Amino acid sequence: MTEGKIWLNGSLIEFDSAKIHVLTHALHYATGVFEGIRCYKTVNGSAIFRLGDHMQRLIDSGKCYFMDLGFSRQQLEKAAIDTVTANKMEECYIRPIAYYGYGKMGVNPMPNKVSVAIALWKWDEYLKGDSDKAARLMVSSWARIDPKSLPMRAKATANYANSALARVEAIKAGFDEAVMLNSAGRVVEASAENIFIVKNCLLATPPTSSGALEGITRDSVIRIAKKNGIECEIRDIVRDELYTADEVFLTGTAAEIKPVGEIDSRTIGDGKAGKITKQLKELFEAVFHDKDNEFSKIWLTPIN
Ligand SMILES: Cc1ncc(COP(=O)(O)O)c(C=O)c1O
Repeated sequence: MTEGKIWLNGSLIEFDSAKIHVLTHALHYATGVFEGIRCYKTVNGSAIFRLGDHMQRLIDSGKCYFMDLGFSRQQLEKAAIDTVTANKMEECYIRPIAYYGYGKMGVNPMPNKVSVAIALWKWDEYLKGDSDKAARLMVSSWARIDPKSLPMRAKATANYANSALARVEAIKAGFDEAVMLNSAGRVVEASAENIFIVKNCLLATPPTSSGALEGITRDSVIRIAKKNGIECEIRDIVRDELYTADEVFLTGTAAEIKPVGEIDSRTIGDGKAGKITKQLKELFEAVFHDKDNEFSKIWLTPIN
């Protein structure tokens, strides 16, 4: 996307005007927090998925970094709706970001003003792998950041240098995505998705105490699974459980639900999307297309 409107500190401005100074604190010291949200075309018009939960996570992420965003959750929700409306997009990926700006250099961000922006773009497929062609993963040589080192509950720009190294390593080695372990050797998540395994019809995903982001898609999947009689354990997972799982899939706003067919050159199941992965994917899609009686009503914010 190279045109359209971007929301910046309360105003909608032209795409080309949304520029920052090279001495922006966040650029030098990674003092920014952000979100990724999707707006879907549903049977009842466009709607944003779990908008309030994403904006609350943005505020909570900011709190970890002493950031006062200067806008309430309701104001941020309205800003996202206004940005989608102004860009006349039926479906898009929405990227709110809050960051310490240009003011006083030095590690301490506090003397710098916090800016908030919302941009959006079309992002159809973030990760390779549909129902027939599942994603190929490798376990990264980079350990996931320990929650003792950074607040991993925060979706902060600082966390993503670690993600970027893992992702580049995987791509250069010919894989689609990286799985990251923590310093104790437990599975945490992929570079930008949470991870689930299925073994004997039981779902499992690592706890957030492992260092994983408290993913909103992860939470949606756990709740949809529960309602449909699929139990999910939140527990530590070790590397070899990935290799011997019946099914593995990733969840994230950008990637949605992605089946995994291979990890470290071991085929998972028959190498394609497994039965439970497919079932959850269909149920999840029904929810965000406003075809579900329970969750669509509470998780979709209509644009009109
Ligand atoms: C590191 C990481 N884990 C997990 C997720 C999935 O989170 P969500 O489902 O809220 O998009 C993301 C994406 O935001 C991520 O960047």
